[in-house]
Amino acid sequence: MEKILKSPLIVHYELTDNCNHDCTHCYNSFDHTVPLVPYTTMKAIVEEVIQNEVFHAVVTGGEPFKDRMGLQYVLEEFTKNNMRLSLNTNLAMVNEDDIQMVRDNNVKSILTSVISYSPEVHDEVTGVPGSLKRTLKNMGIFASLNYGITANMVVNKNRVNDVYKTGKLAIENGARGFCATRMAPLDEKDIPLMLSGEDTELMLEQLLLIEEDFGVQIGSLNPLPRCFSDNPRYHRFQKGSCSGGRVNATIGQDGDLRACPHQAESYGNIVEEGMSSVWQKTPVLAEERVPTECGDCKEVKGCAGGCGETSRVVSGINSMDPLGRGVEHVQEIDQSLPEVNPNQRFSFREDIIYRDEKSGGVFYRKPSEHIVLPNKGVQVVKDLSQITFNINEVVEVLGEGIVPLVKLLYKKNLLKKHMED
Ligand SMILES: C[S@@+](CC[C@H](N)C(=O)[O-])C[C@H]1O[C@@H](n2cnc3c(N)ncnc32)[C@H](O)[C@@H]1O
Ligand code: SF4
Ligand code: SF4
Repeated sequence: MEKILKSPLIVHYELTDNCNHDCTHCYNSFDHTVPLVPYTTMKAIVEEVIQNEVFHAVVTGGEPFKDRMGLQYVLEEFTKNNMRLSLNTNLAMVNEDDIQMVRDNNVKSILTSVISYSPEVHDEVTGVPGSLKRTLKNMGIFASLNYGITANMVVNKNRVNDVYKTGKLAIENGARGFCATRMAPLDEKDIPLMLSGEDTELMLEQLLLIEEDFGVQIGSLNPLPRCFSDNPRYHRFQKGSCSGGRVNATIGQDGDLRACPHQAESYGNIVEEGMSSVWQKTPVLAEERVPTECGDCKEVKGCAGGCGETSRVVSGINSMDPLGRGVEHVQEIDQSLPEVNPNQRFSFREDIIYRDEKSGGVFYRKPSEHIVLPNKGVQVVKDLSQITFNINEVVEVLGEGIVPLVKLLYKKNLLKKHMED
């Protein structure tokens, strides 16, 4: 079946496999000491991404700052073409020029790895003495320039008691947000260090305490299955869906395209075959797998049995995420549309970008704030984007049928409330 989207909306682009660290938990299956890729390959990848109208690139690695010239080229080309950019970096090797390069381009967010509050543990995991010190110093420089950085701690059994202290240290050194992410196993050797359900609750409790004590944004990057816990405190972490192959793709340094950063398998090379044709044969991961234990779970469409890649390593691609507890514990996601005062005036947010699809189009703001519409909806939304309006006014012209669309636009944060003059 042909995919709805002609290309991904968001790509993780692994600029280089090379890395200055060698983290024991790293999900990258590749060698971190390989040479940098030739400029011609990078150029061909960048051109494919741009031609295919991808909205957002998360430039990652390995360590993207290992290839400064390549990074500069990529950031400049993507910025020129009005793309949104994020950077995943350990920050340990950035210098003043690098900081300026980030500021000169359209980099909207930086995610940086902070593994432990303890320099001994951090440096032991990365294999590099002084690595925590360097990461924190550079995070501080970005913070002093008012540049918001989110720190991400990969949590395994060895570090599960250290989440609060690590978050506190990151925030004291300038992080504006903090994520604690359960370690995804690369292969069988990682299984003994994976978090159990109890460990994960301990991780989440510390994360919630960080939010309470410091008022920063918190998160967890590998979502939990909808049946992880009956405790409402954790339900906000059980709402994620796997977007691999649906709106997201990962491009390796040589142009191999995967559905998710954690996958080793590639579906083809975008330089050789073109992104569009590789994308068409890339499966939507959440639709491809049908965990046997999930039976007739009402949430299976959104949850898809939790993280497929984690399940694959632990007990096979068609088994439930090891942190799932089964259908009787499922937390259903509220799909209802928000109540909206029919006299409330709205206008479109200025930073929304648009692209045509074969039969419709996409309005995009951020990975979680976009809407895919058929042709008819596209024209309506384009018209609405030119004016300020309230529901009563649009119903007069277009009828009651327009109300769910306006509410959906509001729910997706594509509309802003407009104050009366
Ligand atoms: C592979 S790294 C590449 C960017 C950069 N080198 C860094 O570490 O920030 C991208 C992100 O994946 C996270 N990560 C690495 N290994 C992981 C694992 N096994 N499970 C979950 N996240 C992991 C890192 O903490 C980082 O936030
Ligand atoms: S710094 Fe990032 S890419 Fe490098 S080894 Fe650590 S997690 Fe992997
Ligand atoms: S039963 Fe399966 S699909 Fe349903 S919430 Fe649990 S893991 Fe997800």
